Amino acid sequence: MYYLRAARWILCAALMTSSLAAIADSDLIERGEQVFNTIAGLGCKGCHGDFAEGDLGVGPYIRGASEGAIRAAINGIGAMTIVKSAIKEQEIEAVVAYIGKLGTLKPLRTLVKRSRFIPAELGVAPAKPIQLIVKNSSVTERTFVSEDLGIEPFSVAGRKTVSLLLRAPDKEGVYKLSCQNCKRKDNFFSVNVSNDHGKMKGDRQVMGISSGM
Ligand code: HEC
Repeated sequence: MYYLRAARWILCAALMTSSLAAIADSDLIERGEQVFNTIAGLGCKGCHGDFAEGDLGVGPYIRGASEGAIRAAINGIGAMTIVKSAIKEQEIEAVVAYIGKLGTLKPLRTLVKRSRFIPAELGVAPAKPIQLIVKNSSVTERTFVSEDLGIEPFSVAGRKTVSLLLRAPDKEGVYKLSCQNCKRKDNFFSVNVSNDHGKMKGDRQVMGISSGM
């Protein structure tokens, strides 16, 4: 996962003020990310999508899935037999921590295609932890930046996806992310920060509400 500077700062601040337990925790989450990406050669992501959003249409949205749900799936879901035979107890514990962490982050995902952002706008509640996911559908590298959100320029290689962890601004408003080297420069991805979004079911943190989005 790609952390931008601000997010890293938040992470450091969190580590400084808390105990060794937090360090062990982030270690576990990191190992869980590994498991999620690689288990049995294809990773959970091979079926549940890069960030557990269920966007491949194979396995469902599982961000924030409980330990019980994950264990039940590994043991009982036929499509996941390949995982059951490969995964070790410690790897289950790690992947549970990682998926739990994903559940606390609101995913804002956009695909960049022919200089356009699809979708071009997504909403989030103020101060909400976000995982901003940018997929580059072209074959050439693209560079993105957002002064509004305090994101320094970052590149996404052709056909790749990058995710940034950040916190939504405290103030309501529309915050723009732009592409520096797309053919057209007048398109933006807008993050609409509004208290209304806290109330909407768009925050799909609850298990069992899956979608093919
Ligand atoms: C080969 C494809 C595949 C892989 C790999 C895979 N899953 Fe699944 N998973 C599925 C499918 C398909 C379902 C849905 C089955 C159903 O609804 O009957 C599912 C369901 C689940 C569910 C239950 C979701 C719900 O809404 O009830 C959880 C939790 C889950 N998987 C977690 C994982 C984790 C964690 C990993 C990696 C360690 C993983 N899966 C790897 C295909 C996969």
